[in-house]
Amino acid sequence: VSNMFRENLQGDYGFNTDDIEEKKAAVSDAHSCIEREQPGFMKLPFEQDQVVDDIKDLRDAMIKEVDNFVVLGIGGSALGNIAVQTALNPPYYNENCEFRGASPRLYVPDNVDPVRFASLLDNLNLSRTIFNVISKSGTTAETMSLYLIARDRVAQEVGEEKVQDHFIATTSSSSGYLLKIAEREGFPEFYIPEDVGGRFSVLSPVGLVSSAFCGVDIEGLLAGAADMARRCQEEDVWNNPAYMHGLLHYLAYQQGKDISVMMPYSHQLKDVADWYRQLWAESLGKAETREGQQINAGQTPVKALGATDQHSQLQLYMEGPRDKVVNFIEVAEHDRDVEIPGFYDDLDGVNYLGGSSLGELLNIEKRATEMALSQRGRLNCTIKMPEVNPHTLGQLFYMLELETALVGELLDINAFNQPGVELGKNYTYGVMGREGYEDKKEEFEQQSRS
Ligand code: PA5
Repeated sequence: VSNMFRENLQGDYGFNTDDIEEKKAAVSDAHSCIEREQPGFMKLPFEQDQVVDDIKDLRDAMIKEVDNFVVLGIGGSALGNIAVQTALNPPYYNENCEFRGASPRLYVPDNVDPVRFASLLDNLNLSRTIFNVISKSGTTAETMSLYLIARDRVAQEVGEEKVQDHFIATTSSSSGYLLKIAEREGFPEFYIPEDVGGRFSVLSPVGLVSSAFCGVDIEGLLAGAADMARRCQEEDVWNNPAYMHGLLHYLAYQQGKDISVMMPYSHQLKDVADWYRQLWAESLGKAETREGQQINAGQTPVKALGATDQHSQLQLYMEGPRDKVVNFIEVAEHDRDVEIPGFYDDLDGVNYLGGSSLGELLNIEKRATEMALSQRGRLNCTIKMPEVNPHTLGQLFYMLELETALVGELLDINAFNQPGVELGKNYTYGVMGREGYEDKKEEFEQQSRS
């Protein structure tokens, strides 16, 4: 949090000890609420021994028959899968069987884009493909339509009697159509705890099943999260990294920083930034009515990637509106490094690069960008990771989830619902002809005509 917390510096440049002290009591109150309510994500690192065993047993039983693992889900039922895969498996994992070993390729077509999904199905040998259909509600139109298409294609390819060998269902244990379908079809089932919302579910079977199939150490992920959970038990903001990071963002937001940019300097973490984008947006973007007045809360999260977006976004961050806080993620040791060879002794503008490594260059670029922003009084902070591994990734997920819960409390909004996305869904149901949504169809058609 280096550049957000500066002794004796005020205003746009950051916050000082007094700013934190002033909010200490509010953080303690928020902590008491969080402890009392115990949102489900807080239990995931500790209460899943049996789930982990079941996932590994299913993986061991199926893996020899599987070349492709496809996640059918959207939003919180997809983004965690992508984030873990990009962070912990090598780039080009799907393309290279040496990287994968015995593990299948992973695909997460998290959209109902016909071109993408049709091409994916055409590209897969469906007789050696498993689909994990993930939907907590078991009704999401995007996920269920992809499932219906996949089921039909699989049945055509392998025959009705073998359909059940190609699907897993990850859903609520007590309700929803996906559960009914899984029971009717005899699919293996994993359950999403009722008190774990989609965007907080990466460390539940939602993220763990694909990770285990793709060779990720899921116990390491959970152990990292448990480690962070223990570090974040303290109500004192000075001893709680999630609370400090959350409070600084809350203060930044109060100061008019309406945009939070997540900018890892590691390609491995680029999809963590995407996952964070959903977590922050859907949890904190809320309308509330207080004393008869409508409040619209929430900081807009933006994902960026260092160094790539230095050449795309940075100009705006340096000189555009002062409405942003930039969150860097710096990785001390990259999984691999590549030395830059020295050539062209006579060309000063190129030969200075020789003898350094790409990892060094990336980290120096991060620090240079940080310094440039700080010199311009542009609010920024850095999460430092020693390396990207299951343990540190589990820590990062947990820290960001807990700070989201904290900021929800500080803003006095419910971080765990998403009423704003229902209306659009209901129009879709109506127009697509779902029973019970006829009024929405009518409303939609009326509005479209006017
Ligand atoms: O965070 C959330 O709750 C949402 O993004 C959901 O994950 C998303 O809408 C998908 O819902 P479901 O898992 O019920 O299909």
